Amino acid sequence: MSPLRKSPSPAARAAGGPFARAERAAQFVLARTRLRPRIGVVLGSGLGAFAEGLAGAARIDYSRIPGFPVSTVESHAGQMVLGTTGGVPVAVLSGRLHFYEGYSMEEVTFPVRVLGRMGIRALVITNAAGGISPEYRQGALVLIRDHINFQGTNPLIGRNDERFGLRFPDMTHAYSDRLRLIAREEGARHGISLAEGVYAAVSGPSFETPSEIRALRTLGADLVGMSTVPEVIVARQMGIEVLGISCVTNLAAGILDQPITHEEVLETGWRVHTQFTALLRGIMPRIAEVLK
Ligand code: HPA
Repeated sequence: MSPLRKSPSPAARAAGGPFARAERAAQFVLARTRLRPRIGVVLGSGLGAFAEGLAGAARIDYSRIPGFPVSTVESHAGQMVLGTTGGVPVAVLSGRLHFYEGYSMEEVTFPVRVLGRMGIRALVITNAAGGISPEYRQGALVLIRDHINFQGTNPLIGRNDERFGLRFPDMTHAYSDRLRLIAREEGARHGISLAEGVYAAVSGPSFETPSEIRALRTLGADLVGMSTVPEVIVARQMGIEVLGISCVTNLAAGILDQPITHEEVLETGWRVHTQFTALLRGIMPRIAEVLK
């Protein structure tokens, strides 16, 4: 680039920046469905079954949505699924983009930005996580009470577009108390006991060492995973209420004297999918009720 070349004018930036891209993608999606979901869902590794059970669903491959990050590794990164559950319209991101795949933070969080521009007011964000707390068993579902960002970066670094929200968003109530209460009540109705915990996000993709897990436990983490936190940060900046649910797919490194594998993570997710789907189905109408 020539040293004399000026940075883009404010008008050019407004036309081509992240906000405009998210807006364009949102309009593209909304033009393909009559649903106007106020609840978004992000499905974590091995937890995709919920999207299968939606009624009247429109499925849009990420690769077709303008501005969606293009996957370099797999040809099929995921789909946005718009459908109803218990009469409630939802917009589901089935398949997420991870920082460890080499996507920028802006790319990782773009799908949630799009949901925000589509008008969602609550985001149910799920993930597979390693259980650090000795109270968790493999397969447990845990409500995220708070998080610790150990990814070494933040999706809001860089120029802030005030149309998304504040430069310095508050994170005191990142995870909504009232949505956690709903989840606990629906869990009880379905015989699913839900613990609560603090989720620590690391970049991955290597799993942690036993010493890293001891360090994370000392620092207050109950769960560890490689996602969620960037998406929650941008959702909160946009004023979206968040419910976070982790599936403890494995006990964290060093708790059992056995290696952790991605296959184990996916298998556990699959093993709990009936319970997990029942919980999500129960929660959606209740969230829709409080958003009114
Ligand atoms: N560590 C990090 N991320 C994870 C784990 C883990 O043990 N299990 C599932 N995602």
